[in-house]
Amino acid sequence: MNHRVCIFDTTLRDGEQSPGCSMTVPEKLRMAHKLMELGVDILEAGFPIASQGDFEAVDAVSREFPSARVAALARACALDIERAARALEHAQRPRIHTFIATSDIHLKHKLRKSREQVLEEAVKAVELARRYADDVEFSAEDATRTEPAYLEQVSLATVEAGASTVNLPDTVGYTLPDEHAAVIRRVVEALKGRAMVSVHCHDDLGLAVANSIAGVQAGARQIECTINGIGERAGNCSLEEVVMIMKTRQDHLGLETGIVSEHLYPASQLLAELISFGPQPNKAIVGSNAFAHEAGIHQDGFLKERTTYEIMDPLSVGVPASKLILGKHSGRHALNQRCQDLGFFLTREELNAVYERFTAMADRKKGVTNEEIALLVRELTAAAVRS
Ligand code: KIV
Ligand code: ZN
Repeated sequence: MNHRVCIFDTTLRDGEQSPGCSMTVPEKLRMAHKLMELGVDILEAGFPIASQGDFEAVDAVSREFPSARVAALARACALDIERAARALEHAQRPRIHTFIATSDIHLKHKLRKSREQVLEEAVKAVELARRYADDVEFSAEDATRTEPAYLEQVSLATVEAGASTVNLPDTVGYTLPDEHAAVIRRVVEALKGRAMVSVHCHDDLGLAVANSIAGVQAGARQIECTINGIGERAGNCSLEEVVMIMKTRQDHLGLETGIVSEHLYPASQLLAELISFGPQPNKAIVGSNAFAHEAGIHQDGFLKERTTYEIMDPLSVGVPASKLILGKHSGRHALNQRCQDLGFFLTREELNAVYERFTAMADRKKGVTNEEIALLVRELTAAAVRS
C-alpha cells in the first residue's frame, strides 16, 4: 500500500467559516502563499455559492497558483457545482468537492429526503462535476453516523459516477478512533483502490487528530485539516499535529506527507495574525509553551541532553528555540545557564547567593524575567564589592 498521505488543507474554507476566523480575499491570498510554501497537496479555497467573497477567493487563489490543486466546495446541486466550476476556471488542476448528507438523522430532519433520493442526487452531482473537472471529490456528510451498508453503497456509486476521492467526514466530532477505523476500513476494502478515501474530522470531543490517525491506519490516504485546528464549533483536525505525529512516529505508522515541517510555526503565526485569535499556550506543536520547560528536574535533564524531555526538535517545526522558563520550579542548573547566557559567569558561592534571592522572588511571581535576573546579579556583585 502507498505510504504517502495527502494533506488537504481547508483552513480557507471550513476554518474560515467559523466565528472570529473570516478573512478578506487579500488575507486569504497571504495565507495561501504560506500554505503553498508549507507544501499542502490540495488547497480548499472556499465555498463559491456561499458568498461573493468566497467566489473571489477561489478565483484569486486559482489565478495566483495556476499549477496548484485548488478545491472549491459545492452542495450536490447544479447551481453550486456550476458556481464552483466558474470560480475554478483559472485553475490548471481544479477539484470540485461536492457533498450531501447521508445519515438518517440528516435525511429525516434536514433534507427530508429518502436514502434513494440522496443516492441519486449524489451520483448526478458527481456526474455533473465531472463535466467541469477531472478531479472530483465526493463527501458523505455525517458519514460516521450513517448506516455502514448505505455508506458503502453511496461510496461505490459515486466512484462509479467518476469521483476519484471519497471523503467520509465525522461532521459532528462524534466517532471514536476504533469505530472510525472500522468505517474507513470497510469503504477502503469495498473500493479496492479505485478511489482515494479521505478523512475529515471535527474536534467536538477532542478526538479529531486521534480519529484522523486511526483513519489513515485503516487505509485512508487523505486527511482534511486546518492550521491551528480552526473550524466549525470546536474546530477541525489540526494540520500541524497530524503531520508531526506521522513524522515523529514514522517508526510505528510508516506514513509520510509532503509537508515542509519547518514552515508549520510560521504558518500558525501568520494565521493568528490574520484572524482574531491564536493557538492556546499549551497547544501541541505551535503553542507558546510547546517547547518551554519550567520544572527543575526537566530543566536539568534538558540541559544535559535535550531529548530527555523533547521528542521533537523545535527547529524542525520552525520554532526558533526551546525556552527555559525561570520560575519557582526551576533549579540552580537552569539559573546558572541563564546567567551565562546573559554574560554572568558566577562562582559556586555567587550562584548560591543569587539562587536564594531568585527563589524568594519566583515564589511571589509567575516567572522571573531576564532583566530581573540581571538586576539580581548586579545588585549582589555590587554588594560584594562594597563589603
Ligand atoms: O464537516 C463536514 O462534513 C464538511 C463537509 C462539507 C466536507 O465540512
Ligand atoms: Zn467540516
